[in-house]
Amino acid sequence: MGHDVIVGGTGMLKDVSIWLASQGNHLTVIGRNHDRLLQLEREVPDSGNLNLLSLDYHNVDQLTNAVLQAIKVHGPVSRAVVWMHSTANDALQALVDCLSSTVQDTWSLYHVLGSAASRPNAVTRPELRGNCHYHEIILGFNMRSGISRWLTHNEISTGVIHALEHEARETIVGIVEPWEKRP
Ligand SMILES: NC(=O)c1ccc[n+]([C@@H]2O[C@H](COP(=O)([O-])OP(=O)(O)OC[C@H]3O[C@@H](n4cnc5c(N)ncnc54)[C@H](OP(=O)(O)O)[C@@H]3O)[C@@H](O)[C@H]2O)c1
Repeated sequence: MGHDVIVGGTGMLKDVSIWLASQGNHLTVIGRNHDRLLQLEREVPDSGNLNLLSLDYHNVDQLTNAVLQAIKVHGPVSRAVVWMHSTANDALQALVDCLSSTVQDTWSLYHVLGSAASRPNAVTRPELRGNCHYHEIILGFNMRSGISRWLTHNEISTGVIHALEHEARETIVGIVEPWEKRP
C-alpha cells in the first residue's frame, strides 16, 4: 500500500482528500484545526487509512518531524498535494527536501498555486531534487458575459483531481487571461 500526503486538505481541497482516500493508499492530511480534520474523517467512506496531523506548517520542525513519523509508520510518500500560503515557503522547501530524502525511487509533487503564479517571477517555486516529478496547478478564475469570479471549491477540487488522474505537468483551473479581467 502506498502513502499520499495532502497539505491544506480540509478547506477548498476537501474533496481532493476524499478522492485520494478512495484510491487505496494511506493518506496523511495536514491542517491546523482539529475539528475540520475530524469533519473530513466523517466524510470519508472508509477512514481506516487516514492519518490526520493537526499542526501549523509555519513550525518547520514540527511539520518535518510529523511527516517523518508518518513515513516511519506508513512508508515513503509517492504523491503529495500541497496548498501552502507563501508565508510558509521555508516550510514548503523543508517538506520537499524531507520527502525527496526518504523515497526509494521517485515521488510526485502536485503544487497548488494561486492565480499570481501565472505572472513571471511572481511566486517562489521550491528547489527540487532529481527524484521529484513536479506538477503545477494554477488556480485561475472564471468569466461569463464579461463578468469574472473566483473559482468555487468544487471547481478547484475537480481541477486538482483531474491533474492527479492525468498526471498533468501543468494545469490551469479556469483562466488567467485576460489578466486585467480577474475579479
Ligand atoms: N483562484 C481562486 O479562485 C482561488 C485561489 C485561492 C483561494 N481561493 C479561495 O480562497 C479561499 C480561502 O483560501 P484559504 O487557503 O485561506 O482557504 P482553504 O483552502 O479553505 O484553507 C486552507 C487549508 O490549508 C490549511 N492551513 C491553512 N493555514 C495552515 C497552517 N498555517 N498550517 C497548517 N494548515 C494550514 C487549512 O486548515 P485549517 O483551517 O485547519 O488551518 C485548510 O485545510 C478558499 O476557500 C477559496 O475559495 C480561490
